[in-house]
Amino acid sequence: MKFFLDTADLNEIKEVESWGLLAGVTTNPSLYARIGGRVDDFKKHIARICEITSGPVSAECVSMKRDEIIAEGRELAAIAPNVVVKIPTMIEGLAATKVLASEGIRVNMTLCFSVPQALMAARSGARYISPFIGRFDDIGEDGLEQFEQVVCSVKNYEFASSNGLGEEPEIIAASVRSSHHVTQAALMGADIATVPFNVLKKCVEHPLTDRGLDAFMKDWEKVKNQ
Ligand code: E4P
Repeated sequence: MKFFLDTADLNEIKEVESWGLLAGVTTNPSLYARIGGRVDDFKKHIARICEITSGPVSAECVSMKRDEIIAEGRELAAIAPNVVVKIPTMIEGLAATKVLASEGIRVNMTLCFSVPQALMAARSGARYISPFIGRFDDIGEDGLEQFEQVVCSVKNYEFASSNGLGEEPEIIAASVRSSHHVTQAALMGADIATVPFNVLKKCVEHPLTDRGLDAFMKDWEKVKNQ
């Protein structure tokens, strides 16, 4: 499973890039708002992210009609070769994805919450499908159970020969809130997990690692003093 960072924060992206494991970045309008982003700077900001990482960088369309989504998607894709156009899972989004995929533009279908949505996204030519986990938990349902169903159903079929891409869609575990989500997504066969910075940091940590390191350092002091 690859790790994407779910953020629009350049410092977070630079930091995780320096760890040597960053495979891509996902953004959305809320994440961009969180860093105080401005509409007139959005494309430049995506370009800045694309300079930090060579992996796929998802930039989300905010248009609601298919022709507008297509036009916006083309503009976003022109920012850099590694831009992936993020489009919500809805009828207008599916129609736009079909057209953009036929032009070789990679689409990440977002706000995906069900098996039918995921299968339709795959059929329309989405290169990435993002089932959300945490937001299901937020409404008192089991986000991981829903995620597992999406992974199983998409992996039951072959899409590459008919989706216009010649590649199978990759499933991104999205709306990830904990290292437990990351663990379970990996066990369930996610291709990618897009993880917020604070959760990714927690994924590196383990109390037994800290305890073990502490003991090793203490023993090394003894060795030095012998
Ligand atoms: C995915 O691409 C989304 O940007 C993100 O994972 C949404 O997460 P949230 O539900 O924590 O906002």
